[in-house]
Amino acid sequence: MSKYCLKENHVTDEKLFNQRRAIIKSSLAFSLLTFSNLLFSNDKKLIFSKDMKYSTNEETNTFKQITSYNNFYELGSGKRDPMMNAEKLNTDDWTVSIDGEVKNKVTLSKDDFINKFPLEERIYRLRCVEAWSMVVPWIGFELSHIIKLAEPTYKAKFIAFESVYDPENLPGQKRNILAWPYREGLRLDEARNPLTILSVGLYGRILPNQNGSPIRLIVPWKYGFKSIKSITKISFVEKMPDTSWNLEAPNEYGFYSNVNPYVSHPRWSQKRERRIGEFRKRDTLMHNGYAEHVAHLYEGMDLTKNF
Ligand code: MTE
Repeated sequence: MSKYCLKENHVTDEKLFNQRRAIIKSSLAFSLLTFSNLLFSNDKKLIFSKDMKYSTNEETNTFKQITSYNNFYELGSGKRDPMMNAEKLNTDDWTVSIDGEVKNKVTLSKDDFINKFPLEERIYRLRCVEAWSMVVPWIGFELSHIIKLAEPTYKAKFIAFESVYDPENLPGQKRNILAWPYREGLRLDEARNPLTILSVGLYGRILPNQNGSPIRLIVPWKYGFKSIKSITKISFVEKMPDTSWNLEAPNEYGFYSNVNPYVSHPRWSQKRERRIGEFRKRDTLMHNGYAEHVAHLYEGMDLTKNF
């Protein structure tokens, strides 16, 4: 069976897909249903539509690859540790506080994310994007919805994100591998770019813990570490915020972290990459292949200095 991203039976649980086909046959609302799927989770229905504009039609990685080869240092530093320790992340009673230079400071619950966003249509987007050398069918919504809700003041220039802090339960946080909590940041215009999404699910399922449940960032034109998992805090700030990997090794990991084949990491070339599941390396594309959507954000900047 082909695994190309836009084949709908591959992004929906098989049972749901078959149910939906039966509905389509008996319904006049064919055009609507062709573009929507239902995802059931904790008695909640998430409706999502496929986003053709920003999706790649490259072959998607398998659910197994996406959920068993991860970086999530709170759950351990080995690639299989996040899957093995997944249940140690407790997402009950999850809240995300939105604060800083905004008119509307607000705290949202996991349930709010499922029921409130996107504000107008309440339809999640399903986007197949290439990130960290995997193609993943993410389900989520544009971060710009949160920005609109918060209404940043003129002082806000960046967004700082923070992950869960729970050293009692998260094995990685019992050690000082990184400065906890995990932190990331974006410039406000990067955050507003339609490619930047908050994800709540993948492959037709609610986000597995090892992939950053209940809510994580996806920034497809940047290296994987910018895509912070299990977010608890979103702060609008005036100054460029600290980020975990920049604090750890500033000469290796800059704030921007744009995928850039022309600027080598001090310890390795970034010209070629191996996609998970493939043997042969492929050429790395500028901005991970999304240059037409984001190159303008960096016009006039020296990307060898702003790496
Ligand atoms: N977010 C948190 N909170 N902790 C982490 O260790 N690792 C980052 C990023 N987000 C990380 C994180 C890194 S290094 C990568 S490559 C991606 O998550 C991996 O995402 P994935 O496991 O869903 O592929």
